[in-house]
Amino acid sequence: MDRVSIDFDEIIDRRGTNAVAAEGYRTYLFGEVGDEVTLPCADDEVIPMWVADMALASPAVAIDAMRARLDHPVLGYTANYDVELFGAFGRWCDRRYGWSPAPEHCRPADGVVPALYDLTELMLEPGDKVLTLTPAYGHFRGAPERHGHELVTSALVRGPSGWEVDLEDFARKVADPRQKLFSLCHPHNPVGRAWRPDELRAMADLCFEHDVRIISDEIHCDLLRVGLEHTPLQKLYPDSDRIVTAMSASKTFNLAGLRLAEVVIPDDELRARWDERVFPILNPLSHAATVAVFDHGDPWWTALRSHLDANFSLLAERLDELVPDARFGIPEATYLAWVDLSSVFAPGSDIARAIAEGSGVLVEGERLFIADAEGHVRINLACPRATLADALERMAPVLSGR
Ligand SMILES: Cc1ncc(COP(=O)(O)O)c(C=O)c1O
Repeated sequence: MDRVSIDFDEIIDRRGTNAVAAEGYRTYLFGEVGDEVTLPCADDEVIPMWVADMALASPAVAIDAMRARLDHPVLGYTANYDVELFGAFGRWCDRRYGWSPAPEHCRPADGVVPALYDLTELMLEPGDKVLTLTPAYGHFRGAPERHGHELVTSALVRGPSGWEVDLEDFARKVADPRQKLFSLCHPHNPVGRAWRPDELRAMADLCFEHDVRIISDEIHCDLLRVGLEHTPLQKLYPDSDRIVTAMSASKTFNLAGLRLAEVVIPDDELRARWDERVFPILNPLSHAATVAVFDHGDPWWTALRSHLDANFSLLAERLDELVPDARFGIPEATYLAWVDLSSVFAPGSDIARAIAEGSGVLVEGERLFIADAEGHVRINLACPRATLADALERMAPVLSGR
């Protein structure tokens, strides 16, 4: 099980596997104008650096565990009856963050996004509002709005050392009596902040003072730069039942297609409502892979973080040389670079489309984020170094306005 086979330089063609990154970009990235976007290269030369999965092979321990599970020939209904999944999840959390979620509070979900939609429905009454920090991941709007709840946004501000919460604005918004839920993205997609304990406490104390519960989406929590550590929000409030934490091995180990996440719900009543509402069947292959990576994925995870750090250094270096007008700082977390190109492109430009049409590189633009994203693109760096270098060469003339 400890087989370590790690090659982050292998360039893997994902076409022909129904991969969203490779095949789903037209409508997802560009919306209604998707069919009008003309790329300057053949399909096999497009470089997808958008949706948040990796162009890297998933860990061998995950693949091996799924193969081993297939040695048993019955793939019938499977649920979570034993201690394997949450035992492995708990051990991972303990090793990584010194936090041990109570297994009886944990529930499997078909992904963090489905959990966000279910929880929003279960935690709110008609007329309740949801607060989030922006720019934000699109489903943070989709979840409340699907159930008829207004999303209120508090824009992050750029402080001397990077993106920060505007606590005055946050305090004002959280004090609205109709505000009942704060959707926290920790670490934050897209700006890549790994919130420090003092920042988490400042936000959470205000929430609890005003009877606002928190969903802490911590799906990016293992993808911090080497030397930095993630603090789960719940670790700071071990006795609170006002927090729900969502994590998953899917981002860390590139298993997003397996659709399995872990949700920690300390509130007994909310958990009972979850149990009534959420269908408890698991994919047996996802279960096997997830247990394997939580228990045996450490070497792969360690190597991945170094690889991502080096990719970020390359991006920072090359942007400095090629596009000095771009504003970019290496983020604390995620494999996503949030690059400010507002001094290169005119206000209102569809930058992602301009980059796609000028270079054949696919990145995410303002359209995919909630508020306060104008002038920015998000570039996914979870790829081989050579792919990144190639993409940068190709993007440079477009990014520098040449
Ligand atoms: C903040 C955040 N939450 C959730 C997800 C996706 O979660 P899942 O694939 O488990 O539904 C993403 C993917 O990019 C994300 O960035």
